[in-house]
Amino acid sequence: MISTWFIKELRAHVQGEKRKGKKIAIVPTMGYLHRGHLSLVEEAKRAGAFVVMSIFVNPLQFGPKEDFGRYPRDLERDSSLAEEAGVDLLFHPALEEMYPEPMLTLVEVKELDAVLCGKSRPGHFTGVATVVAKLFNIVQPDLAFFGQKDYQQVQVIRRMVSDLNMPVEVRSVPIARAEDGLALSSRNVYLSPQQRAEAVVLYQSLEEGAAAIRKGERSARALENLIRAKIKAESSGDIDYVEVRDAADLKEVTEIEGPVVIALAVKFGQTRLIDNKVVEVGTDV
Ligand code: PAJ
Repeated sequence: MISTWFIKELRAHVQGEKRKGKKIAIVPTMGYLHRGHLSLVEEAKRAGAFVVMSIFVNPLQFGPKEDFGRYPRDLERDSSLAEEAGVDLLFHPALEEMYPEPMLTLVEVKELDAVLCGKSRPGHFTGVATVVAKLFNIVQPDLAFFGQKDYQQVQVIRRMVSDLNMPVEVRSVPIARAEDGLALSSRNVYLSPQQRAEAVVLYQSLEEGAAAIRKGERSARALENLIRAKIKAESSGDIDYVEVRDAADLKEVTEIEGPVVIALAVKFGQTRLIDNKVVEVGTDV
């Protein structure tokens, strides 16, 4: 596996692979890899691509009171996991390589960035869209892989790619979960054993919500209340949001008629966890 801090070096390698006729795939990450990240690599390998993984904890997408400083990092472990998974090139730029100067240019995906996580994390999705646009320009991939764990992030990236005519095909990959259902996340290491045990309620409440839809519940508000009540009853989690929204455009829904995403964010102490479930009313149900 090739590993580099430098954009110039990366470009030379990627150009070489392109000349050989290889498709280039990018898997952007912030590192501290787990099975969820590696499932993205697996999909990229399945597509037969030369796989570039980036590991970069992007300060632009963290709020001033958020966990940028203490975000977990372990490049040595990540390098061996990436290598085992078949990553062809690991790009782990230094801060000064990505942001040599203050950014005067930002990519803002309006509306989609103002709801759900965007509401409690102002500027977050601008930070994400901007760094992903930079990574796309640096790597110039044919394919880009993102996890459905960050459902809103995928919608933001898809819209950016479409609005700005970026020549990249965005593919999304299902959520990888622990045995008890908790969505894998680099931030799960922050949880105390008790918080970790309680956090399973997020997955369970989403499953209960989906079951309620299958049984005929069509009121988005009733569904949100059901899920909130379960989380409150079974954990010490502090609910940021529980929302049922249109799965395609994240618009509000009242009556559930088509595909919806049930999305939630809950804080356990300082640790904010997110999860979601798409329910395809009309096909699934
Ligand atoms: P990070 O949280 O490291 O996640 C990198 C990628 O892995 C994202 O596409 C995310 O959705 C995916 N992922 C994380 N947990 C997952 C899980 N349990 N199952 C499936 N996929 C999962 O998301 C980011 O980094 C950043 O915002 C980034 C896109 C790299 C921009 O900085």
